[in-house]
Amino acid sequence: MSVGADRRARLRIAGATDWAALWRNLVLARARCLDDGSAVDPRSSRCIDPWESRARDYDERVARRWTKPDSTRQFVLAQIAEGATLLDIGAGTGAWAAMMAPHAARVTAVERSPAMIRVLEENLAARGITNVSVVEGSWPEVTVERHDFSLCAHAMYWSPDLPAFVGRMIACTRRMCFLALRAPSPQGIMAEAALHLWGHPIDSPNLTIATNVLRQMGLSPHVLMERGGMREPRQSASLEDALQRMKRHFGLCDTTEHDEYFGALLRRRLGYEGGRYVWPPDDGSALIYWTVE
Ligand SMILES: C[S@@+](CC[C@H](N)C(=O)[O-])C[C@H]1O[C@@H](n2cnc3c(N)ncnc32)[C@H](O)[C@@H]1O
Repeated sequence: MSVGADRRARLRIAGATDWAALWRNLVLARARCLDDGSAVDPRSSRCIDPWESRARDYDERVARRWTKPDSTRQFVLAQIAEGATLLDIGAGTGAWAAMMAPHAARVTAVERSPAMIRVLEENLAARGITNVSVVEGSWPEVTVERHDFSLCAHAMYWSPDLPAFVGRMIACTRRMCFLALRAPSPQGIMAEAALHLWGHPIDSPNLTIATNVLRQMGLSPHVLMERGGMREPRQSASLEDALQRMKRHFGLCDTTEHDEYFGALLRRRLGYEGGRYVWPPDDGSALIYWTVE
């Protein structure tokens, strides 16, 4: 890439104060890489379910994390009036839907991955839950009726148009909307890399951008930083694996341009325990919520 083109690309990512554009650019950057580390072929129309080989593993990870209480779940549960209806967008393997179902009249779980839906349905059946309807489809395109409450937990990161995502959420909600999303540390390793690449520390679609997008939409969101969330530290089998993870994160799997910088950063900031490289903790979570007027 020429120096001029590189600078233009950096400015596009920086997005000035157009927060919706910054969200979009970061979603699209990440979408350039597949999970196996290869670059997406823009001419391919092959439709891949990214959760096909990971749905069960994801489910187990959530189950381990949820053995301890956290402030996000406690707060959401306390807001839901007994007998209300709840919309769970990007329901995954159904942890939230299953938690809310005993308190709600009805839960609608919207999910686009067939692999996740398979595990979700098994989980509901295993717990004898019968008041959750599963809708296979992609938000915001899918059609659902209005619900009292709507929640999207960590399922907005693949949607480039956050205002459309949130706007449709509001249109389908009578009382209150909740978004649970990443709140990475500004001192984290990914923030340091983002600063190097783009001149700002925002490495991914996250709390900072979403809060500003909502404010630019004229909403007054409240933010609750999560306490008690037990996140397992990320590990990599080798420095090469860690490098590939970092390149995927920034959508840079088709270039070696930043490998030297990333390698030095990883050697400086990763720990080494029991034969594995351990990433420093930098992936907190937060809840954004607002009432629907
Ligand atoms: C990280 S998982 C979160 C699952 C669940 N909400 C939880 O907190 O355990 C993200 C899920 O969102 C789904 N997803 C992502 N974008 C979506 C969209 N636009 N519409 C519906 N589902 C979506 C993915 O298929 C995946 O199952």
